[in-house]
Amino acid sequence: MKTPSRLVPLIHADLIDEVVGQLQSGKEAEVYVVRCGDQYRCAKVYKEATHRSFKQKTQYTEGRGVRNSRRSRAMESNTRYGRKERESEWQNTEVEALSLLAAAGVRVPQTFGYYEGVLVLQMITDADGNPAPRLDDVALMGEQAREYHLLLVREAVLMLCAGLIHGDLSEFNVLLSQDGPVIIDLPQAVQATANNAFAIFERDLVHLSAFFGRFAPEVVATDYAKEIWKLYKSGKLRPDTVLTGRFEQSAKKADLKGVLSEIADARDEEMERRGFKK
Ligand SMILES: Nc1ncnc2c1ncn2[C@@H]1O[C@H](COP(=O)(O)OP(=O)(O)OP(=O)(O)O)[C@@H](O)[C@H]1O
Ligand SMILES: [Mg+2]
Repeated sequence: MKTPSRLVPLIHADLIDEVVGQLQSGKEAEVYVVRCGDQYRCAKVYKEATHRSFKQKTQYTEGRGVRNSRRSRAMESNTRYGRKERESEWQNTEVEALSLLAAAGVRVPQTFGYYEGVLVLQMITDADGNPAPRLDDVALMGEQAREYHLLLVREAVLMLCAGLIHGDLSEFNVLLSQDGPVIIDLPQAVQATANNAFAIFERDLVHLSAFFGRFAPEVVATDYAKEIWKLYKSGKLRPDTVLTGRFEQSAKKADLKGVLSEIADARDEEMERRGFKK
């Protein structure tokens, strides 16, 4: 295809040899299949910040700590400089998150460089070597749904151990490669130390359980988020920590009276069934 103008600098810089086709134009980026030597890769071309929706921008600034205060003031302002800073911060978040997570062993695509607002990525493929489908595009058997759900919960744990939360984890941002799910799309990743981090983490896990619950209804009843967060907060979370998917409220909060009266009712019922009167 004719080389899109945003990809021309990468051809000149020898980062890519040819643009093969366009995969998708999403909310934040356009993704192209490119050829680099004898390999196919993906080139993610970020749209300018002005083209993104307001909701995404606030969600992103919410959880992101910007250290340099001059820059953070600039990013809040609506000047040209402010907009530019916001934009590059957003784009760099994904590059930084992907390398940090790859190093931590999270199933994410390998990065091959970031140049002029374009990220070159490993192309995730299916068994035929075509770009992998998103989870949303596939139907799963119950067993597979339970397996992938657990795998992705463990990936979320691994990310948290590396200090990050995806922030937009769902069936739309997980690709199903020939060797299982791979997580993509991280420009909104938030630090696990951010104020609203738990709410974002819990939302990610609820999206996952709601999706997999379509194929394995019992998945909906799991509650990994609170269990994982409690371990994380107390410094006990490890990549291989055993999880139950249940969260027990602390004894203080438990409704002991209610539980006892339910037990008593059950006993009364049973006695009645056996012919004893109260
Ligand atoms: N590394 C990759 N390998 C294969 N396909 C990819 C890769 N990265 C992205 N894609 C494809 O491009 C689509 C958009 O990518 P991504 O989710 O990163 O961008 P986005 O702008 O957030 O898009 P959306 O708004 O659809 O979420 C993905 O849904 C996927 O189909
Ligand atoms: Mg996406």
